[in-house]
Amino acid sequence: MKDSIHIPFTKNHLVGTEIQFLKKTLTQSSLVGDGEFGKKCESWLNQHLDCHHSLLSPSGTAALEMSALLLDIKPGDEIIMPSYTFVSTANAFVLRGGVPVFVDIRPDTLNLDETKIEEVITPRTRAIVAVHYAGVACEMDEIKKITKKNNLYLIEDAAQAFLSRYKGKWLGSLGDLSACSFHGTKNISCGEGGALLINQKKFIRRAEIIREKGTNRSQFVRGEIDKYSWVEVGSSYLPSELQSAFLYAQLKQSHKITNQRLKLWNLYHEGLKQAEKEEKLTRPVVPSTCQHNGHMYYIILPSPKKRDQLIKALNKKGIQAVTHYVPLHSSPAGKKQGRTAGDLKVTARVSRCLVRLPLWIGIEKQIDWVLKEVIKAL
Ligand SMILES: Cc1ncc(COP(=O)(O)O)c(C=O)c1O
Repeated sequence: MKDSIHIPFTKNHLVGTEIQFLKKTLTQSSLVGDGEFGKKCESWLNQHLDCHHSLLSPSGTAALEMSALLLDIKPGDEIIMPSYTFVSTANAFVLRGGVPVFVDIRPDTLNLDETKIEEVITPRTRAIVAVHYAGVACEMDEIKKITKKNNLYLIEDAAQAFLSRYKGKWLGSLGDLSACSFHGTKNISCGEGGALLINQKKFIRRAEIIREKGTNRSQFVRGEIDKYSWVEVGSSYLPSELQSAFLYAQLKQSHKITNQRLKLWNLYHEGLKQAEKEEKLTRPVVPSTCQHNGHMYYIILPSPKKRDQLIKALNKKGIQAVTHYVPLHSSPAGKKQGRTAGDLKVTARVSRCLVRLPLWIGIEKQIDWVLKEVIKAL
């Protein structure tokens, strides 16, 4: 039987202006995408993330799929990525016939191990996907060097990294293309949503076409042409004004939300310092080059058994603590579709020993209790 949950793992956070913006959309003549709120969100992203151009999408997954289309991924093309990531990182490329090449992660940040990338590059390699786990940046200088030297594209999967920085630069502004997610579990959300950030001018026009079902409708909407038609391969990757209005309310408060989450993250981090000293667990590592966004607080236990015992003990108290990714290289589809570079030892250990603790705005008063229960259970 399931234990009843008093403290869920995640919870919606409303900033209060969502309803006002949603109401405003109802006075507009149309709710289709690329309207007033869609444009407002995109201007906000361009300005605040320092990216060349942004296009809202229905999800982070859709933004990754658009990236694969923009890079013209063909059957057999290889894309280097961590195995310790969400399925969409790989799926987006597999949909085009691409082959994910799974590389191990670093034991500190749990991000793609940049020292293991060059050995897996082949003449079929087209791109590297840097997934910024828990909003902490990959070692971008090194990864950029590798992409430049080998003439590869760099995609940032910044789904968890909204308003995180690397050496002062916003994540999402460093790759050729980057995917953001505004899914309900993310810091800034509109239920389901995302954005493609484009940092190379050459992709902008085709990205608009891909988003608009392969047509040049965006140019038509801007009054640049008098009728639109099918000009390229594309799909339906445009969110409606309803999603954009909700998202705009959240974007306007997003720096405040990030600071609130960072405070909660720091409470966990401070509260578990002693337990780490006693070698009961390992806390997240944030290199001095990274300014993260408080997206997730996780701990790594010394063994899978201890991890499972902790989750069970917390669940019994009504605290929802959860595991994370099943490594893609060991999943049924990953085995069929991908190629694995050697033993992914860190990935295997982390996936079996990591637990994520509840973190959402409003949990402030209960964090002490969660911490007490974690320490008791250890
Ligand atoms: C690393 C990563 N990539 C991609 C995605 C997909 O984003 P979305 O759920 O918006 O499609 C997620 C979402 O959980 C994610 O965590």
